[in-house]
Amino acid sequence: MTIIVTGGAGFIGSNFIYYMLKEHPSYRIVCVDCLTYAGNLSTLEDALENPDFRFCRINICDREAIYHLFEEEHPDIVVNFAAESHVDRSIADPEVFLDTNIKGTAVMMDACRKYGITRYHQVSTDEVYGDLPLDRPDLFFTEETPIHTSSPYSSSKAAADLLVLAYHRTYNLPVTVSRCSNNYGPYHFPEKLIPLMIANALADKPLPVYGKGLNVRDWLYVEDHCKAIDLIIHKGRTGEVYNIGGHNEMRNIDIVKLICRELGKPESLITFVKDRKGHDMRYAIDPKKIHNELGWLPETKFEDGIIKTIQWYLDHQEWWKTIISGEYQDYYKKMYDSDSSAN
Ligand code: NAD
Ligand code: TYD
Repeated sequence: MTIIVTGGAGFIGSNFIYYMLKEHPSYRIVCVDCLTYAGNLSTLEDALENPDFRFCRINICDREAIYHLFEEEHPDIVVNFAAESHVDRSIADPEVFLDTNIKGTAVMMDACRKYGITRYHQVSTDEVYGDLPLDRPDLFFTEETPIHTSSPYSSSKAAADLLVLAYHRTYNLPVTVSRCSNNYGPYHFPEKLIPLMIANALADKPLPVYGKGLNVRDWLYVEDHCKAIDLIIHKGRTGEVYNIGGHNEMRNIDIVKLICRELGKPESLITFVKDRKGHDMRYAIDPKKIHNELGWLPETKFEDGIIKTIQWYLDHQEWWKTIISGEYQDYYKKMYDSDSSAN
């Protein structure tokens, strides 16, 4: 069994590669990643020592290179994680989101059609459903909730989802789509809420909370997401969408306060900054379908997962300090230092 994992040098993709190498030691895993600012080869250091693992620096929009790889590897399954993934960046500059998230998805699926695979899996997000109001805690996203996006990021992911389902109907490509809530855990790029707050708190820097910090996200430990995808690619029904989430809703401000408490840092570091444009209020997944059909349930409770995650960032300071010392500094200045910050 050979699996191509795109975006495997990023946060969730790398966790998925380690999960699969551990759970399926007989599989060959081929990682395709062009190493954007968010991709980090050092994350895959341990995997690179495994003879059943191969890394290929390829852009998923590069049709020729992708076709060539399929000719070499004859993959059975493709799991597409590769994407531009940060909402704030999509607001500042949408174009690359359209290229990678939409066109790149089409190239991967065209290769699957041309060479034949048993499964193409698209890793999508709950953000394609838009947001829910704070005063309706009874509402959740189901697989039937209409697509209703807010940001260029979520719109590009939604466009890709529609394309994937169209390839199933039109060409009978054996696809599945998963829509997961916010992940947290090791190797999370420090531009996202949890790792950014940990890194800033450790450096006694201000903790920039957008608006009033009342927005709610539904947090899932990354390994639980990997386990869900493993189940879907092996047992999920083709042509189907599966929502993934663990009923763990938290307000941003409460997460930031928890991080302060765990690190022994004062809440006075919290700084309320201008709100994100079009900021989604609440995400909340109803995971009944994947639970009933595939028996998936999250295993890591948030109280444990967040402690493990904070400890990981304490133990791996070199990993994230190297990342935030380079090009990321310019991004940080642009987003948080001027009046146009994070808006
Ligand atoms: P990430 O930004 O950490 O990693 C993305 C990876 O894709 C990077 O290694 C990058 O180099 C690579 N990449 C980007 N453009 C590429 C291209 N054109 N060709 C090849 N490689 C390219 O992202 P993540 O947080 O790990 O998210 C992975 C996937 O999961 C994305 O599709 C995202 O939409 C989805 N998702 C993320 C979350 C979350 O909470 N992070 C939740 C639900 C779904
Ligand atoms: P993020 O990690 O960017 O994920 P997403 O926007 O995909 O949910 O942000 C999570 C929440 O945290 C979101 O409501 C925006 C908020 N946020 C801040 O308040 N401050 C920050 O510096 C960042 C990066 C995010």
